[in-house]
Amino acid sequence: MMTIDVETLRTWLEEGQPVAILDVRPTAERAEWAIPGSLHVDAYDALKAHDPAALAVVDVPSDQPVVTVCAAGKTSQIAAEQLAARGVPAISLVGGMKAWSLAWNTAEVPLEDRSARVIQVRRTGKGCLSYLIGAGEEAFVIDASLDPHVYLNMARSQGWQITSVFDTHIHADHLSRSRQLAERSGAMLFLPDQRRVSFPFTAMRDGDTLATEHLRLTALHTPGHTLESTCYLLNNALLFTGDTLFPTSIGRPDLHADEREARARSALLYHSLHKLLALPSETLVLPGHASQPVPFDGKPIGAQLSEIDEHVGLLHATRTVFVETLLQRLPPTPPNYERIVTLNEAGLVPDHDVTELEAGANRCAIS
Ligand SMILES: [Fe+2]
Repeated sequence: MMTIDVETLRTWLEEGQPVAILDVRPTAERAEWAIPGSLHVDAYDALKAHDPAALAVVDVPSDQPVVTVCAAGKTSQIAAEQLAARGVPAISLVGGMKAWSLAWNTAEVPLEDRSARVIQVRRTGKGCLSYLIGAGEEAFVIDASLDPHVYLNMARSQGWQITSVFDTHIHADHLSRSRQLAERSGAMLFLPDQRRVSFPFTAMRDGDTLATEHLRLTALHTPGHTLESTCYLLNNALLFTGDTLFPTSIGRPDLHADEREARARSALLYHSLHKLLALPSETLVLPGHASQPVPFDGKPIGAQLSEIDEHVGLLHATRTVFVETLLQRLPPTPPNYERIVTLNEAGLVPDHDVTELEAGANRCAIS
């Protein structure tokens, strides 16, 4: 049986190699998240039943590999066998969408000032965005959400040594890999000032600045999404906003909060957002999440403050309207978020079942 692993498939997609992806999951599962550009046929039940005609109507290219995908990599094998019997070069994705949760791609942020480079590292399925910022021989990482080796290899290939690692807040939708990355790279670990985590870190308070020869990173405390949420301003031009502000939406204030607390945090968020809007309008906002699976298109996800100001109407509401609207629009809480928060507060990444814990799409924003 021919199979392909996540790392190989993501490399093919990043390199633009010809490949067709056939998703055979039920339509409802695909609605939650999917591999960008994949074809779909709801053949799950028929394949499970070993109906030889399960994929009879599916039109797939015969001149390139076809990767079949299901939830966990079993049904996709049946699909690959059926296609292979028809002469289609089909291979099954090992571990299915569950394993795909760790797939990633990159996009470089174009900068006027060439002394620094910023690479957006995107966990495509979950939409988690992290950043590798390099200049001279050193690099910073913000919101690491992938295994440390991903950032270490990338930095090494650019001739950078990772010296400082930052998180914008205590995450609730994915396990932070920042502590592990700091340990593996020997970097300093910087977190927003708070008493939630139980491991050592260097606190970033409002206005604190870390400066090297080419990089100047300043913390802006922006409570709301969480109380410790902090944005980082790089070289007075780029603003890493975590889950506080997105190109077309704003952060949710309710996780880990009852209604009174969510109301209080919404009011804090209002003030935090207006603090950000006071920065120069050409500041480029680089968020901590995408709301959709991130395509392998090399295009960074971000927007200038002026564009966000124009498109996110809630930013122009009065505080009262802002708070009431936010409370009405709260999306469902992400799966397993309490367990994820507990692990992030302990600084732990379990050896197994990580993708089980982190399953599903991101739900940190309100649009
Ligand atoms: Fe978050």
